[in-house]
Amino acid sequence: MAEQRLKDKIAVVTGGASGIGKATAIRFAQHGAKVYLIDRTPEEAAQTKQEIESIGGAAAVIECDVSRAEQVEQAIAQVGNEAGRIDVIFANAGINGAIAPIETLEIEDWDQTLDTNLRSTFATVKYSIPFMKEQGGSIIITSSINGNRTFANFGAAAYSSSKAGQVAFMKMAALELARYAIRVNAVCPGAIDTNIGNNTFESEEVEEIRIPVELPEVSHPLERAPGKPEQVANLVLFLASDESFHVTGTEIFVDGAESLLRG
Ligand code: NAI
Repeated sequence: MAEQRLKDKIAVVTGGASGIGKATAIRFAQHGAKVYLIDRTPEEAAQTKQEIESIGGAAAVIECDVSRAEQVEQAIAQVGNEAGRIDVIFANAGINGAIAPIETLEIEDWDQTLDTNLRSTFATVKYSIPFMKEQGGSIIITSSINGNRTFANFGAAAYSSSKAGQVAFMKMAALELARYAIRVNAVCPGAIDTNIGNNTFESEEVEEIRIPVELPEVSHPLERAPGKPEQVANLVLFLASDESFHVTGTEIFVDGAESLLRG
């Protein structure tokens, strides 16, 4: 039988219904974890569950809007109480949200992006600690090249701020939770082929703030194409498993060097 790096582990994946979360949930399950899929779209999450079960894995779906802290608390408590513990958290659910000039970006739109991407990360980690601290574990957060290496996506002030905030939070958490042998790291993907476009709302006014930048002929140096969710999932699997046991408090870029070219 193939080696199972997460054998009998309890893993939580937020945003497990689509894209990077879905690919990672499947990867975790292939490696022996029971995966709890937390998402606001339970029908799509049920498809991930079905795919996992069709390869002999175990999964459960919990409907939850991660921008609502009380729903996150309930969802995490449900996992912890059912499974007895949580070993791996993948705080990944996120949106691009409203893309607009700062001058016209609505406060509510800022809040929606920050609440969905950053506040949710805090809530997911916060409520998981009681279920992780006895045995230790691994927390992985999906940040981005945006807000960390790339700042030329005009109109993405809210998104980039949320993604930078996640990395600062990750570093604070890594130090604070080291005493419990809980590791905390972030992955920073470049463009990945997922459904995130469905949650992107670009205003026409962005054209007015765009500064012309000369784009390189090749925007993805390594593969000459956007990455695949499975490529991010492989990195997350490494960070979730004991193979990365000395790795904590760090962000890892998974972008085929895209951000080095277009920072
Ligand atoms: P996706 O749209 O394919 O998947 C996102 C999942 O999160 C969906 O299942 C969606 O239902 C769920 N979700 C969104 N808001 C939610 C909420 N309030 N409560 C519960 N679930 C919610 O997108 P993708 O690309 O897989 O995104 C995953 C993460 O990767 C996000 O944090 C995103 O910012 C990040 N990312 C994506 C990149 C890309 O190019 N696709 C690049 C860099 C980072």
